[in-house]
Amino acid sequence: MQLLDGKKVSEDIKVELAEVVNKMKANGEKVPHLAAVIVGNDGASLTYVGSKVKACERVGFESTLIKLPSTISELELLQKIEELNQNDDIDGFIVQLPLPKQIDEQKVLMAIDPSKDVDGFHPENFGKMALDMTTFIPATPFGILELLERYNVETAGKHTVVIGRSHIVGRPMSILMGRKGFPGNSTVTLTHSHTKNISQITTQADIIITALGVPNYLKAEMVKDDVVVIDVGITRVADDTTEKGYRITGDVDFENVSKKASFITPVPGGVGPMTIAMLLKNTLLAREMRKA
Ligand code: GUN
Repeated sequence: MQLLDGKKVSEDIKVELAEVVNKMKANGEKVPHLAAVIVGNDGASLTYVGSKVKACERVGFESTLIKLPSTISELELLQKIEELNQNDDIDGFIVQLPLPKQIDEQKVLMAIDPSKDVDGFHPENFGKMALDMTTFIPATPFGILELLERYNVETAGKHTVVIGRSHIVGRPMSILMGRKGFPGNSTVTLTHSHTKNISQITTQADIIITALGVPNYLKAEMVKDDVVVIDVGITRVADDTTEKGYRITGDVDFENVSKKASFITPVPGGVGPMTIAMLLKNTLLAREMRKA
């Protein structure tokens, strides 16, 4: 069994990005600038956004964190987005999800200028992704592709089973694994809450990508020998023995599934850190596209 070490690979990517930034600075060029909008006080969301901003500092990008109250109206948020669209200094920005109930998430995602949509959530970018056109690929799926590529995991002709059809992970992942090229050329099954006899499907899988948010969902009996397992789950589970009072748990029963797997991502330290590294890559792409 080989660990797909997202922590290490994401560090490598950040070193590579820092080198690019140093060259930009040496040439007197503007460095990439990412803005992140967070609405409300959800602890996990604040942590994620904080990590994104910190990662910008690490590689020498500029960053702006915009904290808005949970009571903000949809109109006020849309106005903030329009400001960011118009602000020439900002190369790309994200609006952290989920949003409070009074705000229509689809309206918000549609309001982001596609050329600054470094999350790749705007329908124009999602469509381009599905049609193999150059665009921003959502950071978590992009990070999974990068891990598979850097560890040279064979994907062509393999049966990939994706568990969960979220717009952020499962749905785009199911498209990307079936695209032409590497990593891709996979035969994909997308499973979800209405799927019957899921074990019958997962035991046929060469590659399993779980994005459910149900701790320890994928058990050893559900996989075949030498399976490749990518665990996107990051659920906070109460744990008094830790300093923070919780620990991060994936969707996979790692202890037992890892005994059968050829490659597997740990949680934490697998997909999570890759997501942030790929958001930075998208921000660099946004800067380069604005120059061109
Ligand atoms: N919420 C969970 N993951 C993400 C992400 O990748 N981007 C944004 N904007 N919100 C999220």
